[in-house]
Amino acid sequence: MMIHVPKVLTAEQVAECRRLLDTAEWTDGKATVGEQGALAKRNRQLPELSPVGRQLGELILTALARNPLFFSAALPLKTVPPLFNRYEGGEHYGMHIDGAVRAVPGSSHFIRTDLSSTLFLTDPADYDGGELVVADTFGQHSVKLPAGDLILYPASSLHRVNPVTRGARISSFFWTQSMVADARHRELLFQLDQSIQRVRGKHGESEETLALAGQYHNLLRMWSEI
Ligand code: NI
Repeated sequence: MMIHVPKVLTAEQVAECRRLLDTAEWTDGKATVGEQGALAKRNRQLPELSPVGRQLGELILTALARNPLFFSAALPLKTVPPLFNRYEGGEHYGMHIDGAVRAVPGSSHFIRTDLSSTLFLTDPADYDGGELVVADTFGQHSVKLPAGDLILYPASSLHRVNPVTRGARISSFFWTQSMVADARHRELLFQLDQSIQRVRGKHGESEETLALAGQYHNLLRMWSEI
C-alpha cells in the first residue's frame, strides 16, 4: 500500500527548509547504508546528527503528529529523526531494500522499519528525473510529488531513485515503526477508518458510526503492540 499524504508542510515551511538546507554541509550518502546500499547509492546527505537536520526534523515530526491521514495509514509508534538527501548531476540510488532495523542516532535504541517516507522539498518543475520508483507485487510505481507532499510506502519493498538529469532534488526521508506490525492488519484498519469517516461525512454521526468506530478500536486493540 502506498499512500500520498498531501501538504504535510505549508509553502512557507518548505521555503524555510530549503533556506536552511542551502547553507548546510552535505556529505556522501554512503554514510548511512550497509555494503549492499553503498554499491547502488550516489547522492549526498546531511550528517545524521547535523543541527540543521535535527531542527528541520523536529518541524517535520511536529507537522506529521497533526496529520490525520498519516496517523491513520501508519499508526506510528516510533519514527527515526528525519534525514535529508540531495541528488543532482546524474546522481541516483539504484534498486535496493532498506534495512529491517535501524539504530536511533545518539541513543542505544533500535526501531523496526515498517514504513518508509519520502517528503519532497523541491517543486517537480525544478528538476528532471529523480522519480522514486517502488516495486510491489502489482508492478512498479513511479512517484514525484509537489514540494511539501509525502509518500508513505512499505519499507519491505524494493525501490530506487532515478538519476536527476537537470536541477537538484532535495527531500527528507525517514522510517516509522508502526503499532501494527502486520501490513495486512494495518491496511485493513486504514480502509475501515477511511470508510467510517466517509460514512460520517455523508450521513453524520449515528448509532451505526458509533458501532463501527467501536469495532475499529477493538481491532486496533487486538493487533497493536505498544
Ligand atoms: Ni531506500
